[in-house]
Amino acid sequence: MPHQFDFLVIGSGIAGLSYATKLAMHFENQDQAVRIGVITKVQADETNTKYAQGGIAAVWSEDDSFEKHIEDTMVAGDFLSDRHIVEIVVREAPQRIHELIDYGTRFDKEHGGDDYDLAKEGGHSDYRILHFKDITGAEIERALLEKAHSLKSIEIFTHFYAVELITRHHLGETVHRYDNNNQCYGAYVLNTQTGQVEKFLAKTTLLATGGIGNVYQNTTNPSIATGDGIAMAYRAKGICKDMEFIQFHPTALYEPGKKPNFLISEAVRGFGGVLKNMSGETFMENYDARLSLAPRDIVARAIDSEMKKTGDPHVFIDVTHCDYDRFVEHFPNITAYCRDHLGLDLRKDFIPVVPAQHYMCGGVRVNEFGQTNIHFLYAVGECACTGLHGANRLASNSLLEAVVFGHRAYLKTVENLGQSVIPDSIPDWNDAGTTHPEELILVTEIQRELEAIMSNYVGIVRSNRRLKRAMDRLELLYLEHEELYRQSKVSVRICELRNMIEIAYLVIKAAMSRRDNRGLHFNLDNVKTATVETE
Ligand code: FAD
Ligand code: SIN
Repeated sequence: MPHQFDFLVIGSGIAGLSYATKLAMHFENQDQAVRIGVITKVQADETNTKYAQGGIAAVWSEDDSFEKHIEDTMVAGDFLSDRHIVEIVVREAPQRIHELIDYGTRFDKEHGGDDYDLAKEGGHSDYRILHFKDITGAEIERALLEKAHSLKSIEIFTHFYAVELITRHHLGETVHRYDNNNQCYGAYVLNTQTGQVEKFLAKTTLLATGGIGNVYQNTTNPSIATGDGIAMAYRAKGICKDMEFIQFHPTALYEPGKKPNFLISEAVRGFGGVLKNMSGETFMENYDARLSLAPRDIVARAIDSEMKKTGDPHVFIDVTHCDYDRFVEHFPNITAYCRDHLGLDLRKDFIPVVPAQHYMCGGVRVNEFGQTNIHFLYAVGECACTGLHGANRLASNSLLEAVVFGHRAYLKTVENLGQSVIPDSIPDWNDAGTTHPEELILVTEIQRELEAIMSNYVGIVRSNRRLKRAMDRLELLYLEHEELYRQSKVSVRICELRNMIEIAYLVIKAAMSRRDNRGLHFNLDNVKTATVETE
């Protein structure tokens, strides 16, 4: 028997849970019974959200203004952000954050007062980052999960892996990417405990599957970040946008061989931390007047260039001049990690850091209510491209985007209620003729090669030759993997790798098409364009 839901939410990070809780509260307030299924590929809190450190941005103090936050977002995005979307997100931010607080999220307050302690990060012209120590994401995830568990219409399915979206294609109809004639009816989902693929049918489906980090060798993202939602949507003829804009966080801890890379929050530089090269000299003055607090794309490129110039494997952040007690109070997690893993005493030792893949600015193209080009399919959070980030995301605008769009998608879902009908004729998953592969060494091998291709040729600094080489090599990996996929019963590893190959294809294709250097996309063969505002 298929599972039947009113609403299916794929992902239990801030995006999925914001949407699910809003819907559940809406119907429970009206005493209306609905079924909201939330699926998550491992345990519910293992999400990018849980690892967010710095915080969530919003205009909160009287000195600050919406106009300043809007401008900072536009500047960071190299003026490729959609100003209309930026205005929506910035203006709706305080209300959405008040709701998170109402759900029980704690944010740090200033000593002895009721005012929130606002931090500053790269690209922000004012103090506007609400945070809980340096584990803001874990606190938000905790509060949202508690809220979701308290709502009876939400059922959370852990260790369920979405393999494919169910669309008109599965009814034998032909759909085209730009024809606007496709509809989503839920997803085929692998129950990882039984190994069976089950039908999860739903009148409305939300993709909230997060990032793509594991396509790269170095990433701050946990292992769940394999771009599944974007790849599934693309295969279902969804439209993807801005895939060339991969954000590399400038300061991941340098720990060779470690994946994911532990993050040294940008808030550490906002607190006074200074970037230095391995000779102990500052270098940001050679790159940008905003020094260590320039937007991320600029700092990451500066570090990359510094490392290439000196031949050194990393640079440092120096916090030795900061008030240690206050530092530990704000950054207990970072202090403890540096001490326990590298034996560092931050009163006298510098922190070794390198850039690492951190965030996907592009994703499934959505409108101002999170609707994709496939009817009754929404996308919210890191897997979606709303137009907020343009060519580069401003720090702490991601958690914010997810709560704002979770809310907006919920509004549109309720408005469109009753318009979606699920046909009886949706077939079961067909795996006739497939077997369990005898060995998975090929999967490991392809994964390793994929990461190398993306890191060496599609990283911070690109060139036409590197991109072409990446595409040529990717094609071989694609062919090898497709053969394995066709012959094998589905497994999480095989499906994730298939999705990551598809993500790599979309990133390389988008990078090849962009002829100007904007924000995070830097191609040595492109003429540097002036940063001008575009409509
Ligand atoms: P996630 O939180 O990643 O949730 C994805 C969910 O989808 C998971 O439940 C996963 O299991 C599920 N899923 C994925 N694929 C499938 C599938 N096939 N089947 C079933 N389930 C699936 N942003 C900020 O704004 N401020 C910060 O301070 C900040 N710090 C960060 C620090 C780190 C180390 C990292 C990695 C990111 C940080 N970010 C920060 C970015 C931000 O955390 C993420 O962009 C955001 O949390 C994404 O939320 P999401 O709900 O879209 O996805
Ligand atoms: C950080 O704490 O540096 C991460 C902030 C972000 O990714 O927005």
